[in-house]
Amino acid sequence: MIAIGSDHGGFELKREIIEYLKKKEIPVLDCGCYSPDAVDYPDIAVEVCSKVTGGESELGILICGTGIGISIAANKMHGIRAALCHSTFDGRMARMHNNANVLCLGGRTTGVSIALDIVEAFVGAEFEGGRHEKRVGKIMSIEE
Ligand code: RB5
Repeated sequence: MIAIGSDHGGFELKREIIEYLKKKEIPVLDCGCYSPDAVDYPDIAVEVCSKVTGGESELGILICGTGIGISIAANKMHGIRAALCHSTFDGRMARMHNNANVLCLGGRTTGVSIALDIVEAFVGAEFEGGRHEKRVGKIMSIEE
């Protein structure tokens, strides 16, 4: 299950990503927003990240205008490693090296085709572990 959410700046891209995930038969949980009306991105970040930390969904996707605000908010949540990605390489590395559990995208900065490729790269990659395990562990120990 992938939990997905956006503010108004990412509303259109969220729609495209949901359609894409459904076509791929990947279960998706839409955490809002549900109209293009303005909402505050930290509220959406909390919704999606709670699903990830609560175990309801394995991964999360968050979109705001730039992806910046929503990634900052997401990374305040314990247990979340949110990565703002602009390329497929970013998307793959975020999983393989950083064990990111939330992908952040900019609805006003990244085109639909590139965003869908990033989603595919992120969802399809796996954490490599090994030497990265210790480094990710050090990131998580900052929370304590
Ligand atoms: C909303 O206008 C915009 O500030 C938001 O989507 C995001 O880009 C913030 O980082």
